[in-house]
Amino acid sequence: KEKGWTTEHMYQYQGFWYHSVVGLQGIMWVEEHFKPRHEDLLLVSAPKSGTTWFKSLMFAIMNRGQYDCSTHPLLTTSPHELVPFSEIFFHLNIPFPNPDTLSPPQIFHTHLPFTSLSQSVLDSQCRIVYVCRNPKDTFVSLFHFLQKKEEENPREPLSFEEAFEQFCKGVSVYGPFWDHVLGYWKASLEWPERVLFLKYEDMKVDSSFHLKRLAEFMGYAFSLEEEKQGLVKEILKLCSFENQSNLRVNKTGRFRVGHMSMENNPFFRKGEVGDWKNHLTAEMAERLDRITGQKLNGYDLRFLDTL
Ligand code: A3P
Repeated sequence: KEKGWTTEHMYQYQGFWYHSVVGLQGIMWVEEHFKPRHEDLLLVSAPKSGTTWFKSLMFAIMNRGQYDCSTHPLLTTSPHELVPFSEIFFHLNIPFPNPDTLSPPQIFHTHLPFTSLSQSVLDSQCRIVYVCRNPKDTFVSLFHFLQKKEEENPREPLSFEEAFEQFCKGVSVYGPFWDHVLGYWKASLEWPERVLFLKYEDMKVDSSFHLKRLAEFMGYAFSLEEEKQGLVKEILKLCSFENQSNLRVNKTGRFRVGHMSMENNPFFRKGEVGDWKNHLTAEMAERLDRITGQKLNGYDLRFLDTL
């Protein structure tokens, strides 16, 4: 048990940290009950790595051709409503959408570390898309997100410096951040046909290339004809931060799961690579770089943190 980033304490389970006992029970519940099918797709991320963006990209890839530009669900519905977050169902005490009753394939999302994925997820052979982001921007994004949540219900959130200390120690929601990333990195090397490892920054820098990679892995490769029609660009535009963050649904709307609703707006802040420079001191940045260097030592894995 450790002091949490919000008023709730954090608890460690199987080497990773979770907010509150309820949060942890949700994790255990998903482990037991979540049974995707072979055709389903699982999007996994550490919090604040670009989940919202990748939910919209994957949804748009899978459903392209079904909607025209003016009727697309991503114009009026939060990506979080279109791609369900597994762990929240227990928390809300509502039935998890039973994959057997939904037509395959479906996209599901979890923040679970690789080593905590249940045997049924592994046995299903469903494909896993993992998205990660450089630790400095992830930390800054996470801090602001939790601050915003606490604003709704203010008590005693950690200061920026205290949260930074916790993050460095590995005590962050679904942390240690580096262990989360490495779990999926190793899995992607071992089972490349099952686990696709993507980086937020790569999608920013070379969007068309990585969108096509993602589509191919999902089993929805773009045809030459579709490329000529400009579909890749259309999807990137639809899902871009500029577009999504300015939609009414994401500015003032709420997304609903069961009886609960949550503001969409906190999931859209700046959407940039390198915002950490506006928040971390030089010492903080160096410290995170040092930890990252130590943790990733021996792995062919680097993060881009400036464009
Ligand atoms: P910042 O806080 O740095 O702006 P998650 O979706 O995993 O919760 O991550 C949220 C982060 O992704 C936030 O980062 C948010 O602004 C950014 N984000 C949300 N939608 C995005 C999009 N369409 N394109 C790029 N970044 C996006």
